[in-house]
Amino acid sequence: MLLGVNIDHIAVLREARRIADPDPLDALSICKRAGADQITIHLREDRRHMQDEDAVHIIKHASLPVNLECAIAPEMIAIACELKPHRVTLVPEKREEVTTEGGLAILGRQPLLKEAIQKLKEHEIEVSLFIDPDIAMVQKAKELGVEWIEFHTGKYANIYAMLYGSLAKTPHSIKELELPRKTLKGMLEEELDTLHQLSNEAASIGLRVAAGHGLNYHNVKAIVAIEAIEELNIGQSIIARSVFMGLEQAILDMKALLL
Ligand code: PXP
Repeated sequence: MLLGVNIDHIAVLREARRIADPDPLDALSICKRAGADQITIHLREDRRHMQDEDAVHIIKHASLPVNLECAIAPEMIAIACELKPHRVTLVPEKREEVTTEGGLAILGRQPLLKEAIQKLKEHEIEVSLFIDPDIAMVQKAKELGVEWIEFHTGKYANIYAMLYGSLAKTPHSIKELELPRKTLKGMLEEELDTLHQLSNEAASIGLRVAAGHGLNYHNVKAIVAIEAIEELNIGQSIIARSVFMGLEQAILDMKALLL
């Protein structure tokens, strides 16, 4: 299974001080050496981590394909067309969120999405939609003519953390839901089942399937077992491990789990 390494968190660390280090550009050769298949970055409308110059230099210098995540706002699409990354993944964006909290709301936004997808395709950029695991979203993605979908695995990761992680480390939004283990196990199986079935369904209608968000060294195995998923985009857990082990080792460790 392919690994896209999301290097946004290097810019998060830099922007905490608004200085020059660490520079996400320095990660490119390490990612390549460690066997990453793709570099993923998110150019947010508020530029809270990656800056325009980061995107320009990363896309220019990466010897791996670059997957640029951005919102469907026309100004962002115009920037993406100019930057010409290998792929653009369209994601929802709310300024108040800490991270991308859910999949793209396709229903009711089709005209805007159609225009964005058409523009990107005219610039020979592959397009992916970051969606919740929901059959209606898969069908709409197919109708919109994109090559890829990326399933949001946040719900799976949250249930996994509640079941097997320490409660103190469980994300705030679900901490209060101290559900019985049996219920959590059922929820986890159900979510995995949904991801499995929808990945098969998407692949059978010609969509290429990626997945990501909240995946880490503990919870990734069950997702790797879903054959129809070709690629995972993983950021936070890899960069977190790299603080202690170094980026190269952190990527090597994740790659080993994806074999
Ligand atoms: N895929 C998409 C579309 C994302 O927006 C993100 C970051 O939120 C990721 C994957 C990686 O998520 P994480 O940093 O939790 O691994």
